[in-house]
Amino acid sequence: MSKTVLILNGPNLNLLGRREPDIYGHDTLGDIRMMCAAHAGNLGLETDFRQSNHEGVLIDWIQEAMDGFGAVILNAAGYTHTSIAIHDALKALTCPIFEVHLSDPETRESFRHHSYVGLVAQARFAGQGAKGYLLALDAAAQVL
Ligand code: DQA
Repeated sequence: MSKTVLILNGPNLNLLGRREPDIYGHDTLGDIRMMCAAHAGNLGLETDFRQSNHEGVLIDWIQEAMDGFGAVILNAAGYTHTSIAIHDALKALTCPIFEVHLSDPETRESFRHHSYVGLVAQARFAGQGAKGYLLALDAAAQVL
């Protein structure tokens, strides 16, 4: 089984650090990428960390996880709440899927309460900022 975890980030997460820092914190996506790589190293895992603002690109990357990745960690950002297509792509995977959000969508606007990712994810880490990614890596390490 592959020890590489595919970490995917959806739209607007490239703006982290500048985007609504009161909600999403001051860490940039580059900071989170480095934290994930270091934490994964301690767990004996590798990471492949990516971000796209485009739904189809995210779907192509999810499909890559059908071969060659041990787990997927996904912060689908706004697509979490809207994308049946991402849900369908995730459903095709046999590897574990972990959902991450920096904020806690369930305590925010009602349109964020539904998650199409959550319907197929093994676990969800939300409302803990960048630490959520590290907790998701811990969960991935337990199954890999
Ligand atoms: C988010 C929460 C989503 O509701 C929002 O659309 C995002 C970021 C989070 O990480 O807290 O873009 O996924």
